[in-house]
Amino acid sequence: MPPTQRRLTENSFNLRLETDWLGQSLEHYQVLESTQVLALERARAGCKEGLVIVSDRQTSGKGTQARTWHSNHDGGIWLSFVLHPNLTPIQAPQLTLLTATVLTKVINDITGLNPEIKWPNDILIGQKKVAGILTETKGQHNKLDYAVVGIGLNVNQLSNQLNEELRQIATSLKIETNESYSKQAMIQAILTQFELSYEDYLKHGFPRVKENWLKSAYRLGEKIQYTVDGVLKEAIFRDLSEDGCLIVLNELKKSEKLYSAEISWF
Ligand code: BTN
Repeated sequence: MPPTQRRLTENSFNLRLETDWLGQSLEHYQVLESTQVLALERARAGCKEGLVIVSDRQTSGKGTQARTWHSNHDGGIWLSFVLHPNLTPIQAPQLTLLTATVLTKVINDITGLNPEIKWPNDILIGQKKVAGILTETKGQHNKLDYAVVGIGLNVNQLSNQLNEELRQIATSLKIETNESYSKQAMIQAILTQFELSYEDYLKHGFPRVKENWLKSAYRLGEKIQYTVDGVLKEAIFRDLSEDGCLIVLNELKKSEKLYSAEISWF
């Protein structure tokens, strides 16, 4: 990484942070290629659980399925954190679902908006994407070594500050409410809520996460379309499975598990 990109800005995010461990170690940059890449590097080097990397801008933000995440603007929250959860690799998708419930709660608490979760990793407001989650893990045998959770949340961008190709399908909290928000307060709220929810999840398991998730699920109980081997099908979106798949009731009234690439939501 070139030295100019490593410049740390005044680190105010973990001042008055009311967490025990998440974000107590925090690195804040003005510009990075990707907080995710750096957090993965730190995780591989054996950093402690709870390290948070925040950057005002990212020049090479990563989305899911090797997509680019446009984040070269300081109006959004771009952060990644490192966990060492006592989970099996098969449980890893639950971390994305958990993070989605945290984001919907924090957005609702701070803005009064009612975001929806489009499975598995998108947060929508009025059918437009306001946030995305990227969870990357490394596991050996039956145990995860680490998980890195990346969150991208459009906060204070105006429409013309969003990537041109995305303007029709993306939004920000400011666009939705006409108000600007303190990114510092919002990051603190996300970290505080994540720590609470994560500890609850590790203690009580997935059912409570699932219950919260279903309350905000986009198009739950509705007909969705999906493709299997090139054949377009329809089914009712019914539930979420333990391994993070969608459960639908297909045309034969049978339960089926679906994987993301097959579904067309809109
Ligand atoms: C998606 O919806 O495709 C997931 C987007 C995740 C973006 C965040 S921004 C912070 C972190 N750093 C990255 O490079 N990506 C994640």
